[in-house]
Amino acid sequence: MALLSLAARVARRIRRSLAPPPPPQPEPAPPEPVAPPTWEALRDQDAAAAVAGMPADYKRYHQSSAMRWVDITGKRVLVVGCNRGDDCAHFINLGAASVVGLDVISEIGWDYTHPAVSYTLASAESMPLPSDSFDLVFAYATLEHVPDIRAAFQEMARVAAPGGVIYSAAAPLWCSRSGPHWGDAFDHDPWPHLRLDAEGVLALAEQARAEGREHPYHEPVRLREFMTDPMLFNRRRADEYLDAIAILDRIDILVNRIEVEKQDGFDPGMVRALIDQGYSALDLFGLTHIVTARKR
Ligand SMILES: C[S@@+](CC[C@H](N)C(=O)[O-])C[C@H]1O[C@@H](n2cnc3c(N)ncnc32)[C@H](O)[C@@H]1O
Repeated sequence: MALLSLAARVARRIRRSLAPPPPPQPEPAPPEPVAPPTWEALRDQDAAAAVAGMPADYKRYHQSSAMRWVDITGKRVLVVGCNRGDDCAHFINLGAASVVGLDVISEIGWDYTHPAVSYTLASAESMPLPSDSFDLVFAYATLEHVPDIRAAFQEMARVAAPGGVIYSAAAPLWCSRSGPHWGDAFDHDPWPHLRLDAEGVLALAEQARAEGREHPYHEPVRLREFMTDPMLFNRRRADEYLDAIAILDRIDILVNRIEVEKQDGFDPGMVRALIDQGYSALDLFGLTHIVTARKR
């Protein structure tokens, strides 16, 4: 009897081991890629926001504009001037395989961590990153802070992979009305940073405050600092940006232009005096430098 049940168990085990393997399970469906907003949609959205009196989202506009030149799905992205990580999050959400964020601030990447994102604390002028490594090198509102823009653009071109895209939008440029990033604080009396010394800027800001036109969030002394601290802005002329791109090696330039502001409505005497000081119309009204280039 015991012998019989042992034989039955052995037979069962043999049958089981000869049984065909279970059919292969279907692969789980890959996650739906997040479609980047189209450039046209953002332009219309920006126009709608402008009509509604809201600030247009220029950062999203430029992130989306860069996508017109390169599909970053599964690709490597470098964000120059990544600050606390917001741009890095954006490119991961669009499907980038990996993102490196580079900045000079100690709070680099504090707002965003992700397994595919790493941060490098360094200046755009000298990046401790290997050459030919990124499919998109992206910088928004950063180059106007970098002292040596030639070195920075050269580095951006060096680390771009062959076929990779370099995209930068730098604004507001120093010589424009809002060069020191003080918004509309001096709308009533433009270009104080080019016309006045530090005390003159302070006096003007205090006068505006006394007349109820104060800056919404910066004290007059902070506005003076915006003008006098050489570490905050690079003070480069508009054509220096254009020239810095024109001399790059192994690069096809797709866009290299300065976007200019509306030029009417200003005191012609003031504009004339600034031109006599040596500023060009492009300096005074050139708000944004936009470059898009592809590495050969
Ligand atoms: C106006 S913020 C823009 C940050 C980010 N791109 C954004 O739109 O939120 C400018 C950034 O440039 C960074 N920056 C300034 N000088 C830099 C340099 N030499 N190299 C790299 N980043 C720099 C600043 O620390 C800051 O994070």
